[in-house]
Amino acid sequence: MAKQQYQSPRGTKDILPEEQPYWQKLQSVAEKTLSGLGFERIDTPHFENLEIFDRGIGEETDIVKKEMYRLQSFGEKEDSAVFALRPEGTAGIVRAFIQNGMSSRPQPVRLYYSGSMFRHERPQKGRLRELKQLGVEIFGDDSAKSDYLAIMSAWEILNRIGLKNLKVFTNSIGCPQCRGKYLLKLKKYYKDKLNGLCEDCRERYDKNPLRLLDCKVEHDKKIAKGAPVILDSLCKTCRDHFQNTLEYLDYFNISYDLDPTLVRGLDYYTNTVFEIADKNDPERQNVVCGGGRYNGLVELLGGPKTPAVGFAFGMDRVVNLMKEQKIKPTKIRGVEICILQLGEKAKEASKKIYDQLSNNDINVYFVPSNDGLRQQIRSASKLGAKYAVIIGQREAFKDEIILRDLSASSQEVFPTSALVEELKRRFSKE
Ligand code: HAM
Repeated sequence: MAKQQYQSPRGTKDILPEEQPYWQKLQSVAEKTLSGLGFERIDTPHFENLEIFDRGIGEETDIVKKEMYRLQSFGEKEDSAVFALRPEGTAGIVRAFIQNGMSSRPQPVRLYYSGSMFRHERPQKGRLRELKQLGVEIFGDDSAKSDYLAIMSAWEILNRIGLKNLKVFTNSIGCPQCRGKYLLKLKKYYKDKLNGLCEDCRERYDKNPLRLLDCKVEHDKKIAKGAPVILDSLCKTCRDHFQNTLEYLDYFNISYDLDPTLVRGLDYYTNTVFEIADKNDPERQNVVCGGGRYNGLVELLGGPKTPAVGFAFGMDRVVNLMKEQKIKPTKIRGVEICILQLGEKAKEASKKIYDQLSNNDINVYFVPSNDGLRQQIRSASKLGAKYAVIIGQREAFKDEIILRDLSASSQEVFPTSALVEELKRRFSKE
């Protein structure tokens, strides 16, 4: 019988060792940038009570209705799931903000997170079912400063990674009051055009009319272009808020396009919404980062009235772009030194040298094996070590070591006490 070859589930992927340097670069640049801007890390569970997403993201959104993995726990009937795998981070973080009484901390509370999210989408390049996001959420400030901080921190991370050719797209979808008035105008505009629209749009007309604007079907896109523009319907407060946000972006030279059809696919947004995309992706199929303000979500999930704004990158998409744009990944320090030894006394001395080198932040590999010297040298070379420290009975007795350059196959004897300085001297020259 042929052996079964298992495959990872569709839309998931293994991140192999050779790809890890890109992920490390992204993670470390993001963490350094965000810590420097006053953000603190939060981790929340990969699954939450289903209701958090139903209410938070919206039951009629594609994410909840078509893409969310509901979990069937033990003893539950198939159709009565109470948990779901998180399709995004914001709703769970709002739950954590409320549950942990974070509204009593000094505001604004600035949080960041990274990890896997799960969406049952049709897999293709840049679209996964287990996707990794890195995002921020800022709670407790309704001024445009925080909208700016969210956009700027995303922009800054992408810049520091070295990505080029990106653009911010932004819009304001107002507060529930001005949006309510706008939706009446929008429905009036669409009323006699419904028959020509796709099935999804016909459903959106009743359930989520704002999303008529971001339909991806060509014919419907043309119709959306002629629709009334929400910016013309904003109340004074919402207009001023958006104007202030744009002034910050202008002041700090972050280039953006106003996009009146940008409404985002999650129901919690109010006011500023934005995306960052590659200019070579005019259809914005692979948006790198999406976010916006969500002033009603904390209250909707049972917390005190708290304005908030945030964003999330698709890390998989950022890594794809890093590769496409030939960004140098982080050089990961592997094994630098191997200790090779022969005999009991040498084993004892090796342990001390191991501690000494580790304490000096030198990556040292030492397994007190009984292999012969030639075999140990071969293993050290395979590990990629530049040097080997060799200790036999004689060296152990005299408190000396042999330092061997594994690529040049040359070696010198040093007193053990001089080893760290000698290695530092050699590393600094490389
Ligand atoms: P989102 O636009 O649904 O927003 O996702 C954010 C980013 O995640 C997208 O711009 C994209 O880069 C990436 N992404 C989404 N779906 C996939 C997928 N199937 N495969 C690969 N990457 C994907 C949110 O999730 C909001 N929680 C963002 C936010 C935070 N808004 C406020 N705070």
